[in-house]
Amino acid sequence: MEIITTVRELKKCLHLAKKQGKTVGLVPTMGYLHEGHLTLMRKAREENDCVVASIFVNPLQFGQGEDFESYPRDLKQDSLRAASVGVDWVFAPKVAEMYPQGFENMNTFVEVSGVTAGLCGASRPGHFRGVATVVSKLFHIVEPDRAYFGQKDAQQVVVIQKMVQDLNMNVTIVPVPIVREADGLALSSRNLYLGSAERQAALVLSQSLQLATKLLESGVQESDKILQQMTELIQREPLAALEYLVIVDKETLESVSDIQGPILIAMAVRIGKTRLIDNIIWRNA
Ligand code: PAF
Repeated sequence: MEIITTVRELKKCLHLAKKQGKTVGLVPTMGYLHEGHLTLMRKAREENDCVVASIFVNPLQFGQGEDFESYPRDLKQDSLRAASVGVDWVFAPKVAEMYPQGFENMNTFVEVSGVTAGLCGASRPGHFRGVATVVSKLFHIVEPDRAYFGQKDAQQVVVIQKMVQDLNMNVTIVPVPIVREADGLALSSRNLYLGSAERQAALVLSQSLQLATKLLESGVQESDKILQQMTELIQREPLAALEYLVIVDKETLESVSDIQGPILIAMAVRIGKTRLIDNIIWRNA
């Protein structure tokens, strides 16, 4: 496996592979790789001749006061992990390589409207513009056949799918199910920030989703009833502060009150200073 830090070098390697008719899978990440990322890479490995994993903490998607500076980074460990699942190239550019004029001086952005208004978009203005812009840059650099995204960032998956559809991008988006710890906590690089009491408290996210599943399975169709019981469960945990909890259509992300078709139940909860997200899709078509 090779670590590549420049766009020019990566394009050179990919040009050669594509000339030989090889297909390319891309796994965009911000590094600090865990089992969730490795699951994406394994799937990319199964489905493509070549696999590129990008590791880039993208400043454009972090707001003021967010954790861009402190976001965990460990390229050495990440490279070992990526190599262990058969990644061919780790693309790990510096900020100056991705934004030669400085990310503050960018003139061109990809802005996906509608599906970015609610959920995480409501409390993180500019976040999805940063995500869509960097993912679009990565798609132009790599020109992958397929790109793999974790379903934990459910809104991100919808935003990227919309971008690809609206801009006729020639790539298949492959969403990959959430990977959880044995006790239900969804894997996230940010779990690292949790102290031991917070780690325990963080279980309210998955527990509230399990409660929702039970209610849905027992035939409850009114979103209000489900949201109320989930909210009560989360509020019983003193270390948890609920940012949002919604039941929405899984494609439009519009609010659903009477559950008939496939829905997404999604939430963001602060556990101490750490903001965690989690979700389930019910009746995935
Ligand atoms: O999900 C992430 O880690 C990031 O948002 C992504 C897709 C790599 C873009 O920076």
